[in-house]
Amino acid sequence: MDRRQFLKGGVHLGLLPWIGAAQASSDPTRVLTAQPGVAQLADGAESVTRIWGYDGRVPGPTLRVRQNEWVHARLVNRLTTETSVHWHGVRIDNAMDGVAGLTQDAVAPDESFDYRFRLPDAGTFWYHAHSRSWEQVARGLYGLLIVDEAEPVAVDRDLTFVIDDWRLDDEAQIHEASFGSLHDWAHGGRLGQWVTINGRPFERFEVRRGQRLRLRVVNTANARVFTLDFADLAPRVIALDGQPVAPQRLEGHLQIAPAQRVDLLIDVTQDAGAVLPVAAVTRSDMLPVAQFEVAREETGAVVFEPFVGLAANPLATGLELDAAERAVLVMEGGAMGGMASAMLDGQQLSLRELAQRGAVWAFNGSVGMTDEPLVSTRRGRTVVIDVHNRNRWPHAMHLHGHHFRVVTRDGVAQAATTPWRDTELLQAGESVGLAFVADNPGKWLLHCHMLEHQAAGMKTWFEVT
Ligand code: C2O
Ligand code: CU
Repeated sequence: MDRRQFLKGGVHLGLLPWIGAAQASSDPTRVLTAQPGVAQLADGAESVTRIWGYDGRVPGPTLRVRQNEWVHARLVNRLTTETSVHWHGVRIDNAMDGVAGLTQDAVAPDESFDYRFRLPDAGTFWYHAHSRSWEQVARGLYGLLIVDEAEPVAVDRDLTFVIDDWRLDDEAQIHEASFGSLHDWAHGGRLGQWVTINGRPFERFEVRRGQRLRLRVVNTANARVFTLDFADLAPRVIALDGQPVAPQRLEGHLQIAPAQRVDLLIDVTQDAGAVLPVAAVTRSDMLPVAQFEVAREETGAVVFEPFVGLAANPLATGLELDAAERAVLVMEGGAMGGMASAMLDGQQLSLRELAQRGAVWAFNGSVGMTDEPLVSTRRGRTVVIDVHNRNRWPHAMHLHGHHFRVVTRDGVAQAATTPWRDTELLQAGESVGLAFVADNPGKWLLHCHMLEHQAAGMKTWFEVT
């Protein structure tokens, strides 16, 4: 289906989605109100969709801060249920990590919580609800956190590409009856049938020949791994999950798992008037989701400076693999997974009993949080977690408070240049060794970012003392 035919009028000219958020660092407290709102998510629909969003919008306001500056954000809860905010990918002070039940109490309706933290890393981050996140993120409680490099990066345009999918009913409202569906939880999570870019059914970027663009791609979907086709845009990948990588031409499609970020650099070399589509690739189809339109006015000769890459962030990169603290994490369960039983709240339960409780995934034989951490380590040590995905499903494993490198894949040592990430996609049957320097004290989560899997048991924690 070509959805352009549903577009009415040229209303998608708002190319600077962060306008209004620039006060984050100068204003002592940026208020973020979690509240109901409406959004035009589906094209051609008569009605708007009722969502929950920060300041009632989806995506919420983009917070834009310079590296090493502080964020002061006050979450005000105007929902009828409790909530909290997690700052995904930020190497944050543990007390500010926003994990209800682990790092803070959930914020009750009509109460507030002040988040204050420094941003050690430049790059593309995001924030989202971390209390019943499988429902709250699906309803729209997320936004971007962009941390500008201390030295400005030479690009002409800085654009966001927040991709999400929504499960809507016939009235274009969020499909509420399927929240908590055991089928979703035991399979690939809640998948939607509507795709949005920056909260719109279709996004148009007006650019000019000769411009250099930075495009920040963020997957905020609960569970969908997106495969994106950039056709003739010839992007170079310059950062993953907020951490710079040596610029590299994107070969083929871009695959991006839930919660991951990919920063792309695009040089607009096409002729005036060119239209460059971006599509989401499905098994059977290419769904157009956005396009870049090169302005009609001719520009002169087009010259691009070489791009050397973004400056590295001050991560602790000195992995001491030989002296590392090691843990094994076996991921089991789900549909067709053959898990017979697992521990839940101190009781060994059969699969049938687990399913009745919506508890269908286990780490090392336990569903959900255990009393003991997966690892407890002294600050500064290297930790290697060998993650074995022993079930029929892909999973997007997210580590809080740190970035890791994949040092082994299916038992094979990887080059020392694998990227630093905070979320890694594991295919069914795959094993990875995730290594990081545990330099951030506190109690941190490690979980699947397919939010239904997390809710149904795929989470654990580790401690840095
Ligand atoms: Cu983005 Cu624990 O999550
Ligand atoms: Cu998962």
